[in-house]
Amino acid sequence: MSKIFMLVLFGALIYGIHLWLNTKSYLFDDQTIARIAEKYFGLPHQDAFDKVGEVLRERYPGHILPKEREEWIFVNAGGWMGAMCLVHASLTEYILFFGTAVDTSGHSGRYWANVSDTIMTGNFRQWKEGTTESEEYGPGVTLLHAWGEATSVQWTAGTWMVEYGRGFIPSTLPFAVSDTIFSTQDFYTLYRVVRIYGEALFQELLCALG
Ligand SMILES: *[C@@H]1O[C@H](CO)[C@@H](O)[C@H](O)[C@H]1NC(C)=O
Repeated sequence: MSKIFMLVLFGALIYGIHLWLNTKSYLFDDQTIARIAEKYFGLPHQDAFDKVGEVLRERYPGHILPKEREEWIFVNAGGWMGAMCLVHASLTEYILFFGTAVDTSGHSGRYWANVSDTIMTGNFRQWKEGTTESEEYGPGVTLLHAWGEATSVQWTAGTWMVEYGRGFIPSTLPFAVSDTIFSTQDFYTLYRVVRIYGEALFQELLCALG
């Protein structure tokens, strides 16, 4: 009996989050973030990220982590290795800079979130589920990865992008740290991921409290 109760509770929770995601208002949207990022593609990636960070801090005061809190953290997931620099995160949205300094490839992950990536430099190859061919994308292109989708991804060395995610963000974390926990066992990286997400959530809490 209690198992059934737990199942019903779990179902209600999922449904509740789903309703919340579909009715709440959001701070950002994929178009706006893509438009900001597109202005700077082709610049050396660190310069481009500096510019994007500046614009975001100006447009969304209080919601973007301060420049001195920007840090590159390794991401190992789906068999690939990259690095991210988080600039905003809440329970339902995030913005980060992402990329890799080496050739790498693997599984994109299947998320309860829509993720869009604007490529700033390099080369992003995507192989969609159910197809037998892959496609290649370059700087200035924005790719949408809809929730529930899975692809194979390949990035060449020096591919960097601006990423915006919208959905139930805590649900994306287990994948993002999957290889960190079960493969690299780099618990210092895990700690840094949890710490920066915690800091971003705390900053959003402060914003909410005015
Ligand atoms: C994710 O994208 C789909 C369309 O691809 C849309 O129907 C859905 O509302 C989006 N989810 C959120 C949380 O914005």
